[in-house]
Amino acid sequence: MAKKEHSGNRFGLVGKNISYSFSKGYFSSKFEDLGLDGHSYENFDLEDISAFTSLIENNTLSGLNVTIPYKESVMAYLDEIDRQAAAIGAVNTIKFTKNGLKGYNTDAYGFEQSLLPHLKPHHKKALILGTGGASKAIAYVLDGLGIDFCFVSRNPSRFQMHYNEVTATVLTSYTLIINCSPVGTFPDIEAKPSIPYAHLAPQHLLFDLIYNPEKTAFLQEAEKRGAGYANGFHMLQFQAEKAWEIWNKK
Ligand SMILES: NC(=O)c1ccc[n+]([C@@H]2O[C@H](COP(=O)([O-])OP(=O)(O)OC[C@H]3O[C@@H](n4cnc5c(N)ncnc54)[C@H](OP(=O)(O)O)[C@@H]3O)[C@@H](O)[C@H]2O)c1
Repeated sequence: MAKKEHSGNRFGLVGKNISYSFSKGYFSSKFEDLGLDGHSYENFDLEDISAFTSLIENNTLSGLNVTIPYKESVMAYLDEIDRQAAAIGAVNTIKFTKNGLKGYNTDAYGFEQSLLPHLKPHHKKALILGTGGASKAIAYVLDGLGIDFCFVSRNPSRFQMHYNEVTATVLTSYTLIINCSPVGTFPDIEAKPSIPYAHLAPQHLLFDLIYNPEKTAFLQEAEKRGAGYANGFHMLQFQAEKAWEIWNKK
């Protein structure tokens, strides 16, 4: 990527089929609240990541968010990757600096900040449901917090579990369960990951990265059995605030 210094107050989100975007509404009202009249936030819906080059060359931008399905593929287009984003293997925030484009991951920060208030000392082992882009940031955070984790997948590789292997015994020790799959997202709100919910108890904590609906079928199971639960809304807000901080840092 040619090094080109960008200035100005144009921000945006890069992804595919992103008309639903939380970020556009969030940042537009933030700019309004702060009286930042010259600031704008747009959706850049790319059919393919190869269109990223012309997006950068034809627009003067200050910062970008990146969402599904480009959090990993965008990394090849950046001049520098922050240490944490490199360790996670995914970028969701890009800053335009005098040295070119630098990628960051603020999903990890968002998840950690939203998980911590719910975490209890007995949450020592976690199941991560799904093995996509988001699950990498979640695994990175759990690792940092010293929480053992195991991925649960429909097609498990070595050291991962299949959903069929999540038994009552497994749930006795894995008391933190994080849904990193899209199962249960609006409009498919009756769907939930396939685990034996009947064995949930008050010591469990279920975290769903999904925020629409507010209380997924997965989280309703937790509520029914007196377990703790949290959705992905605060994570989303925290990651957006962290991106804002990164864009504004000199
Ligand atoms: N709240 C936030 O701030 C935030 C941030 C990032 C992402 N998210 C949400 O987190 C979720 C995951 O994001 P992602 O980028 O990792 O998505 P993704 O890559 O599309 O999918 C994640 C994983 O879910 C599993 N999966 C997909 N479809 C499934 C199905 N029909 N049944 C069971 N498992 C299925 C797959 O793992 P296996 O093939 O191994 O089963 C897949 O790799 C999305 O709902 C996204 O909106 C929220």
